[in-house]
Amino acid sequence: MGHRAAIVGAGHTRFGVLEDGPRALLRAATDGAFASVDRGADRSAVGEAYLATLGFGGWQIGNSSAVLAEEAGLEGVPVTRVENACASGGFALRAAVRAIESGQRDLVLVAGLEKMTDVTSARRRYWLGVSGDTEWERSAGLTFAGVYGLLASRYLHQYAAGADALIAVAVKNHENGALNPNAHFQKRVTPETVRSSPRVADPLGLYDCCPVSDGAAALLLAPSGEARRYTDSPVYVDGLGAGSDSLAVQERADLLRFGATRWAVDEALHSARAERRGISFLEVHDCFTIAELLALEDLGFAEPGQAAEMTIAGRTARTGDLPVNPDGGLKAKGHPIGASGVSQAYEVFLQLRQAAGPRQIPHAERALTHNVGGAGATAAVTLYSAG
Ligand code: COA
Repeated sequence: MGHRAAIVGAGHTRFGVLEDGPRALLRAATDGAFASVDRGADRSAVGEAYLATLGFGGWQIGNSSAVLAEEAGLEGVPVTRVENACASGGFALRAAVRAIESGQRDLVLVAGLEKMTDVTSARRRYWLGVSGDTEWERSAGLTFAGVYGLLASRYLHQYAAGADALIAVAVKNHENGALNPNAHFQKRVTPETVRSSPRVADPLGLYDCCPVSDGAAALLLAPSGEARRYTDSPVYVDGLGAGSDSLAVQERADLLRFGATRWAVDEALHSARAERRGISFLEVHDCFTIAELLALEDLGFAEPGQAAEMTIAGRTARTGDLPVNPDGGLKAKGHPIGASGVSQAYEVFLQLRQAAGPRQIPHAERALTHNVGGAGATAAVTLYSAG
């Protein structure tokens, strides 16, 4: 690797049910990223940009890259749209880091966006389904909540676990979301509220699911050697990993193992020459509570079946020995599909600069983000360290 990449600026809109349309969201997130650069960054210095979006609801399904160029004021800059379902943001960040590492670009913008709440509920179901397996899962009527509900049933059965671990994930992530002014849900919930919430896909209830959210996030990356021209506190990208797996879960040998995540984390650790031990906190893809447990196991931070106990014991709380999703995760912060992977890196940017306010993790020095597409079909893992 010739040039290491550093994040020098980051912007984020509120996530939730918003009045703003896609263009206004992109403008707000990218303006925020430029405004956050301590010593300023000139838009004319940007040499490349990436836009992560599914195009939910059919918004500008073709050529949305040009919209990012317009809204971010990047006249003439090449923009590439990245679509890997819910992992679009993680893969767009990966492409941006590669553009810096190639030595060909000095400043790269990556933005993630989704506008999800302005469609009818029938169209919402359709657009949530487009990233699922059409041959089996969708034709059998399975939504993503349905697929993850099956995985949750299998997990609870295989490890003779109760629903307490799923409930603990929801309570923890709502607790963290309550401290995040950008979160879709900024309210704490009790275990009883989660337990008694309406069933969505048994054993998953309302509070086991991420919501349908609008929002955008953006990052500015520069080569590490030039990062201090922009800020005294850059956040370095130390390692990248990515992988893919079968689209349909029934093609997999083990329902409770996401191969894409396993390949991605191995590659990320190898490329960073890092070990799990030094990582201060994780941002994992908790689209459903079961997904956070599976992520902890696939990422190698818990043995198979042990993530449940680890979560119930409070080890993944903000005050635990391995905080997970200090921003509230997809569960409470929200999940505007293309924005989520970029938003995870935004949280890392704040935490590693000790700028996360009341949800700051003390002594945060290294972090890992994990962004998944669909039910484990694709995954991107990124490792970071403080400047
Ligand atoms: N967690 C907690 N509360 C939620 C929620 C969630 N995930 N989703 C909605 N709510 C709340 C709303 O704020 C609203 O509260 P209010 O009555 O106090 O205003 C209430 O529940 C009803 O909201 P509504 O939007 O009508 O819910 P819904 O029943 O149409 O949708 C889900 C709920 C869980 C089905 C929907 O959020 C969903 O499909 N989530 C999964 C999205 C997904 O699959 N993403 C891709 C992942 S791979």
